Amino acid sequence: MNRAKPTTCIFLLFALLAGISSAYEYDDDLRPCEEDKCFVAIHSDVPRCWIQGDNQNIDYMKPMDGGFHRIPNACRRSNIFGGDGYLVAYPSTGGVVLLRNPLAVDLQYLGLPNTHDTARSPEEDDDLATRMVQLGAQWWPNWDLYLRHSSRVHDGIFYDYHFPSKVDVAFPTTGGAWVANFTRDALRYRYEDKVCQSWLPHAPDLWGVKMRYALTMNDKSNMMKDLGGTFHASVDEVPGLAKTVHEAISLFEPFKERLNNMDDDGYRGRFCANDEDEDKDTANEKPEKPRWGIGSLFNELR
Ligand SMILES: *[C@@H]1O[C@H](CO)[C@@H](O)[C@H](O)[C@H]1NC(C)=O
Repeated sequence: MNRAKPTTCIFLLFALLAGISSAYEYDDDLRPCEEDKCFVAIHSDVPRCWIQGDNQNIDYMKPMDGGFHRIPNACRRSNIFGGDGYLVAYPSTGGVVLLRNPLAVDLQYLGLPNTHDTARSPEEDDDLATRMVQLGAQWWPNWDLYLRHSSRVHDGIFYDYHFPSKVDVAFPTTGGAWVANFTRDALRYRYEDKVCQSWLPHAPDLWGVKMRYALTMNDKSNMMKDLGGTFHASVDEVPGLAKTVHEAISLFEPFKERLNNMDDDGYRGRFCANDEDEDKDTANEKPEKPRWGIGSLFNELR
């Protein structure tokens, strides 16, 4: 019984070496994602991933250029106060429902504390995901797709209708809903009136600031009324707003191909190309709406 078999010795040696090499790369506070019981699958081979505290750190190193991200590990519901600001639910249909930097009033509406992050209770995911999509949260098939594209949008790459819009919702106590629907693209002053017109308006400058000060859903409704929301007597009248996670999944469907196209540098250059020297004639024409009609025309010309 005391005699260790040679295979056991070799195994122990390997374990020791592995221990030394991981101790070399990660100090006490950092550990590889796969070793964590709360590891969230990113669905990509590319990123480097490590756990620090309650956050999963994902680094899309070059040439991916997808940036550095922190998502809550799967034992946490949110990292609003200690991370990149995500509130996350993992519905049983698969995929991720997320709100980035949710408002205090939205957290209150969802029955979550507005003073600290919370642990995740997996049995609450379906219910929470449903209530989140009703507030305008998006469903994404996995983190990889979301992180890579959202960081490009954030860096100012023009995505337009290739990236889901920013939807805000308020439910006043008198019934109905206020809904706003804005582009997530950064303002592009140079191109705004030419070929690259946004399909949707930009949120007004004061939008983010005002929303942060809403203490109740009635405050939020009043602010949306002042700044340009639309009132609907019933949310059933709003086709782009999901009532269930299944609806949120179907709303995402057209974006699969659009996002896939945006991974192609050639496509990305063409869909919003407005080189004045090259395209004198087209530049003088009034851009059509929807603008992707012109985008496809460029595709055919080249
Ligand atoms: C936002 O606008 C887009 C483009 O018109 C539309 O497809 C989508 O359904 C709208 N969403 C909401 C919630 O109104």
